[in-house]
Amino acid sequence: MEHTTPWWKNAVIYQIYPRSFQDSDGDGVGDLNGIVQRLDYLAGLGVDALWLCPVYRSPQDDNGYDISDYCDIDPLFGTLADMERLIREAARRGIRIIMDLVLNHSSDEHPWFLEAKKSRENPYHDYYIWRDGVPGTPPNDMKACFGGSAWTWVPELGQYYFHQFSVKQPDLNWDNPAVRRQIYEVINFWIEKGVGGFRLDVIDQIAKVPDEKITNNGPMLHAYIREMNRATFGGTDLVTVGETWGATPRIARQYSDPAGDEFSMVFQFEHIGLDQQPGGEKWDLAPLRLTELKRVFSKWQTELYGRGWNSLFWNNHDLPRIVSRWGDDGAYREVSAKMLATLLYGLQGTPYIYQGEELGMTNACYPLKDCRDIETLNLYKERREKEYTEEEVMRSIHAKGRDNARTPMQWTDGPNAGFTTGEPWIRVNPNHRQINARRQTGEPDSVFSYYKRLIALRKNTPVVQNGRYELLCPQDPDVFAYKRDDGKNTLYVVCNFYGRPAEGPLLPVREGQVLISNYPEPPAGRRLCPYEAVWYLCRNDRADPAPSGQ
Ligand code: GLC
Repeated sequence: MEHTTPWWKNAVIYQIYPRSFQDSDGDGVGDLNGIVQRLDYLAGLGVDALWLCPVYRSPQDDNGYDISDYCDIDPLFGTLADMERLIREAARRGIRIIMDLVLNHSSDEHPWFLEAKKSRENPYHDYYIWRDGVPGTPPNDMKACFGGSAWTWVPELGQYYFHQFSVKQPDLNWDNPAVRRQIYEVINFWIEKGVGGFRLDVIDQIAKVPDEKITNNGPMLHAYIREMNRATFGGTDLVTVGETWGATPRIARQYSDPAGDEFSMVFQFEHIGLDQQPGGEKWDLAPLRLTELKRVFSKWQTELYGRGWNSLFWNNHDLPRIVSRWGDDGAYREVSAKMLATLLYGLQGTPYIYQGEELGMTNACYPLKDCRDIETLNLYKERREKEYTEEEVMRSIHAKGRDNARTPMQWTDGPNAGFTTGEPWIRVNPNHRQINARRQTGEPDSVFSYYKRLIALRKNTPVVQNGRYELLCPQDPDVFAYKRDDGKNTLYVVCNFYGRPAEGPLLPVREGQVLISNYPEPPAGRRLCPYEAVWYLCRNDRADPAPSGQ
């Protein structure tokens, strides 16, 4: 590999939801010292960096995505000194820390907003987005992501402020150069602390134009990002990944152009929307069609090849658990979790593991009284008022609610899964008795061991990093198969996506070329068992015999 390849192109990044990872002080909420306790586990898995969801000072209206001090740690999670220790301890194990930057909005308890709402003349007033009006008639009909109007009335000022998320998350006004300067100072503060990079929350929404109802991809977006890049992380080796729900491959190339000056890569969500009704919301459920998933992955693999960089993920703190969603969390839990990893990890890009994914953790399906997420609670209210039945609403929440991903990490089969000695802020999934890290780490056939092998294999198999992608059997409704070819080697990835036997494509592979597979024995010819998945590696200069499996 040429020496100019950035480290993150060959890295695997592990996402931590600090609240639910490991509690060290018995208050029922995970914390930074808890993460330090688990660094050896993470190093053992083989990951290169940890992306931490926000740990800054926050009233926790949206679990930390509502920040009231960007340069301090919330006491729930620890102190700035704990953060410095985490960065050091992680570095000792070759692991970098990636901070989550929430720059589209702050908390309404941030000193900037407290000042801003004092008077129209206050110097901080223009840090946010205000419109004159009369009570009861917002400037327009824009909706907030967490329900209700995107405009909230402040009687003292006789003005509305704009918020794309909850009422406690007022949008920052990026058109104000003073706001942008302050934000760059925050970023540089963390760079000086030695972090390894940033994930930029809903970054494509910063250049909104509410009067024209533009939320993402506003006209000034890329100008602001390039300015931020120049003022902060540009020219460093930090990894930067933007969360961009509105990205197309063309836009993603602009963000992640290897010769460009924006980000390393973005999270795009086209595959994530494939199991919802067209034109509906994520709660409007529809079955996934495998041919659609193939089309979407293939498009991104092809259109970014050599001109951008993909992030690869099934899960995050906003999404349901993949094994419950597109695998089988019953009889085939382990084998389907491994299949999903086999499929994703053969693609080009940087993979992200969300905590517990490496154990095959499942959705939680709690009754409403055990749900904690502001989005879920608001959705329930809103849809029940609109006369959806209790059953319909709960079905959507169980399938898509964010709490599915936020239940505590399952370390052991003991009390509270070893997450806390206190009362956990959200219930532990009762299946921790069977699904837990202690049981899996020493077990060679576990989901954990399989992820560990896949991570190591990715690093030692250059074709995974560079090979050109080609989809095989695009119309096959059951099997997702593709190849990657870098001139020297070809990697074939073959996955039966469902819990019934299937037939894979005809391939020029033979015994001895299997790199990894999720059954004790690799496939016999083209026949695939339920959820069977395999990687074959072939040297291109070897004249292979007639295709096997006949
Ligand atoms: C992003 C975060 C999500 C948060 C929202 C508002 O989508 O991933 O958790 O609620 O932004 O900050």
